[in-house]
Amino acid sequence: MKIISDIQELRDHLRGQNRASFVPTMGNLHEGHLSLMRLARQHGDPVVASIFVNRLQFGPNEDFDSYPRTMQADIDKLEKEGVYILFAPTERELYPQPQEYRVDPPQQLGDILEGEFRPGFFKGVCTVVLKLLSCVQPKVAVFGKKDYQQLMIIRQMAKQFALPVEIVAGETIRADDGLALSSRNGYLSAAERAIAPQLQDVLRHVRHEVLELSNRNKAAIDAIEKKAVAQLVHQGWQPDYVAIRQQSDLAPSTNEALLAGEQLVILTAAKLGNTRLIDNLEI
Ligand code: PAJ
Repeated sequence: MKIISDIQELRDHLRGQNRASFVPTMGNLHEGHLSLMRLARQHGDPVVASIFVNRLQFGPNEDFDSYPRTMQADIDKLEKEGVYILFAPTERELYPQPQEYRVDPPQQLGDILEGEFRPGFFKGVCTVVLKLLSCVQPKVAVFGKKDYQQLMIIRQMAKQFALPVEIVAGETIRADDGLALSSRNGYLSAAERAIAPQLQDVLRHVRHEVLELSNRNKAAIDAIEKKAVAQLVHQGWQPDYVAIRQQSDLAPSTNEALLAGEQLVILTAAKLGNTRLIDNLEI
């Protein structure tokens, strides 16, 4: 595997090859990330991965400084997956001057759910993803459904800018007890880790309740959301939201759409101690 930090060198290496299948990450790689490498592979070689902890997407009180950086272990994992190039730019390389041109996603997608609780988050994500896509110019870029809203926002960005890339979605990889793998799981104490699967349990329970509804309507959906939030609080979590939304645009569904069988997804974010976890489940 070639490890490249320089944009020009990356372009020189990719010239004359098939356009790559690309997996952007912030490192501290786990099986979830590696499953995306395998999925990228299925879409064709060469596979390019990136590791870059993107300051722009962290809020002032978030974990940019403490975000786990495990470069050597990550390199070993990517080598085993047959990744052709690891692009690991320094901040100085990717942001040689303050990144003043930024991509602002539309409010109705970028300022809801995660965007409401992490202002500017998706602006930071879109800006770095556009820049990474411009560096790698891949045929395919792979993102996990674990970050459901991120995936949708990047899809829409690629569409609205007519980016010459196909956005491919990978399924969420979970631990045996149901907890979605995440780099932030490492922040959990042993006691917190033991109860963390409750988040997924609540989503499963919500899905069950929605499927059991004899009359799908907004009031019933709202009541299920409120009960789920109360359940998490009761179990010692500090939930930001439990939201049952339309898969198509993450908006709350209308009574008409619910009756017509609109496809739904449940999204949640909650803190356990100091660790904020997110998860989702399609219905
Ligand atoms: P990061 O959190 O490192 O995630 C990189 C990719 O791995 C994302 O597409 C994410 O959805 C996916 N992923 C994370 N956990 C997963 C799991 N358990 N199963 C499957 N896929 C999983 O997301 C980011 O980095 C950044 O925002 C980034 C897109 C790289 C821009 O900085």
